[in-house]
Parts: sequence; structure tokens; C-alpha cells
Amino acid sequence: MSEAAYSKGLEGVIAGESAIGLVDGINGKLYYRGYNIDDLVAYSTYEETVYLLLFEQLPTASELAEFTVNFRSGRHIATPIQDMIRDFPQAGDPMELLQSVMSYLSGYVAHKIKHSATCNCRQTLHQVAQMATVIATYQRFKEGKPYVAPREDLSHGANFLYMLRGKEPLPYEADILDKCLILHAEHGFNTSTFTARVVASSLSTCYSGISAAIGALRGPLHGGANEQVMDMLAEIGTVYNVDTWLDKALLEKKKIMGMGHREYRVKDPRSFVMETFLRDLSDKKGDSKNLSILTKLEKSFRARMDQKGKPLYPNVDYFSGSVYALLGIPQQLFSPMFAMARCAGWLAHILEQRKDNRLFRPECGYIGPAPLEFVPIDKR
Ligand code: COA
Repeated sequence: MSEAAYSKGLEGVIAGESAIGLVDGINGKLYYRGYNIDDLVAYSTYEETVYLLLFEQLPTASELAEFTVNFRSGRHIATPIQDMIRDFPQAGDPMELLQSVMSYLSGYVAHKIKHSATCNCRQTLHQVAQMATVIATYQRFKEGKPYVAPREDLSHGANFLYMLRGKEPLPYEADILDKCLILHAEHGFNTSTFTARVVASSLSTCYSGISAAIGALRGPLHGGANEQVMDMLAEIGTVYNVDTWLDKALLEKKKIMGMGHREYRVKDPRSFVMETFLRDLSDKKGDSKNLSILTKLEKSFRARMDQKGKPLYPNVDYFSGSVYALLGIPQQLFSPMFAMARCAGWLAHILEQRKDNRLFRPECGYIGPAPLEFVPIDKR
């Protein structure tokens, strides 16, 4: 074994270089290709953000128009894909389905798959475009409802809600969801993105990389925290129960879901934006139950952490589940929706990996026995 440095979980290790996303954990800022996410949320759309991530710069008006037509025309899913979704067992997990469907899609592309930095996937984009259709269709079939074909005149957020509900969402609902997708589109070398890059480094296909990334995202240590926040809210029940619940949870050394982050030492910049969406939606829908519990819980949690000197603040998942719930999205779709937004980031990283590729093949620190003499079975 060589004397190479070892860090469990690669914590603190720079495992590659990237020009895509910058997570500034000290100052609580997040940038995509140099643009602050606050500006992207204020002035951009999910589709323009996808362009930015994949083509490395903001588009001109004509570039965006062309890209949008292309992107939206790729939303349709072939009949065999619909059949695959329909046949998925009711009790199955949608993340497992999503992972399989993404690989299956590779058989339904008109172009010949090219494994290169100028991969056709940047043009066809159908993993990013079709993931939303797959998720909405899964939910429709699960509820015994018919397939709703995607529309090409709607933004990505609006189209998703349209396919899910079978009718157009209100403009403010579509706008909020589109911006939620921007917030989740990219986040540096997180576990799923790193997985996608490792797969890409063997010069495998985008489909394999994205499918593997979904598998990594599925785990509770990565995606899925927003679903656990919803379970926590149900357990707390009312705003009057927050302090009693919190003290008991901390005494039992439980982690408070939606709090803390490996990178951010201050409040996650995405959680500020999510909080404003939740305030807005709570107001418009006349339902502020979750908002009031989350606000009180944050205040009480921060007061206790300040006393202990721990820099633990809300992350993006603290508010996102409640935003989705007020948009009428079922809890089991929260992780798939994370994948739907992050797919753009995964694809950008796969393309970047290929541009200057070196196969990921780290060393293993062997801790097993020294060479042993083989004992025949009758002598053991
Ligand atoms: N609630 C209470 N205490 C927490 C906490 C939380 N959510 N997150 C971290 N801590 C405490 C730990 O108990 C530990 O305390 P100790 O030093 O007294 O043992 C300390 O803070 C460091 O925790 P650690 O788990 O080592 O931090 P990390 O940087 O590896 O973990 C997370 C980051 C996100 C995994 C962690 O904060 C967490 O599990 N949060 C809840 C799940 C979540 O919201 N995940 C979504 C992330 S976007």
C-alpha cells in the first residue's frame, strides 16, 4: 500500500476540478457558472439555467428560443416507456423506477449514442426533459388516472404541474415550482454528481451516469431529507408543541431534519429563497400551519445551538417539502423531483468530465489478513 493520504468519505479531499458550481459555505453563497443563484431565481427560468449549465454561458434571445423549442419537443415519452411505468408495482419506490426508466430511455433515442464531450445528449436533452414526464406519469398511473401528454407552450415548472394535475396551474404556482427547480439544479461534488462523474470517467453513456446518480440520490443521507422534514412536522403536530418536542429530540441525540450541512457554516442560501416561497404560498393558500411550526422550530433550535456554539442552520430541505405540499405534490415525489431538477447538473458534470477525462481509480487501503496458506476443505 502506498503512503497516499486517506480521508474517510473523501471528506476534505479535492477529487477533481470543475467550473460549473461554486458552493461558498463560509459566506452562504451558491453560484452556477459564476452567476449567483439569487439572480438566477430572480431573472432566469429553469430552461435558461439548464442552457447555462450545459453550454457554459447565458444564451442570447435567439439561442434560448431555439433551445426552448428543442427542449420542450423532447418531453414526450414513447409508449413502451409509458407501459413500463404503468406495470411498475404499486408498492414500489418511484426512485427505483426512475433509475430503471432512465437506462431504458437509451433504447428510444433516434440518434446514435456518442460517448464524447460533444455528446448528442446536449442537443437532445431528453433525459432532462423527460424525467418530469416520467415522474408525473408515474403519479397519474398510481392514482388510476390517464396519461397527460406534455405541452410545448408551458415552462418546465408549469408543464410538470399540468401533467400531474391534468389542468394548468395558476401562474404563481408554476413560477414558484420553476424557481425551485433552479435552486436544485446544481451543487458541486455532492454524492450523486460525483457518482455521475465516476461513471462518465469510464467513458460510459449519459444514461448510465444519470441512472447511477439517481441510485446515489435515493439514499436517506443525500436526497430524501425533505420527506423526513414532513414526517417531523407531522410528529410535532402544533406550534405549541415545538419546544417540548425539540428538547426531547435533542436529549435523545436525534438529528433535526433540514438542519445542518456539510458545506454551509451559515444558513443555506437556497433556504432563504425557499422560505420566501413558503411564506408566499402559505399566504395565498390560507394555510400557514407548517410555516408557523418551522419558524418557531428554527428560532428555538438556533437558540439552543448558539448556546453550544454549533453552526447549524436550515438547509434547502427545511422548507422545500412544505412548499411542494402546498403545490399539491405528494410526499413520495419529493426525491424524484430533486432528481428531475439535478439531472441538468449531472449532465453538465458528465460532459465536463469527458472534456478532460481521467479514469477514477483510487487506491484501496487494504486492512485484511496477510497472505494465508490455503487449507483444503477436508482439513478445515
Ligand atoms: N440536528 C442536531 N444536531 C446536528 C444536526 C442536526 N440536524 N446536524 C449536525 N448536528 C450535530 C451533530 O450531532 C454533531 O454534534 P457533536 O459534534 O456534538 O457530535 C455535529 O453537529 C456535527 O455533525 P455531523 O453529522 O458530523 O455534521 P456533518 O457536516 O457531517 O453533517 C448533515 C451534515 C447534513 C449530514 C447533518 O447536518 C444532518 O444529518 N442533517 C439532517 C439531515 C438533513 O437535513 N440533510 C439534508 C442535507 S442538504
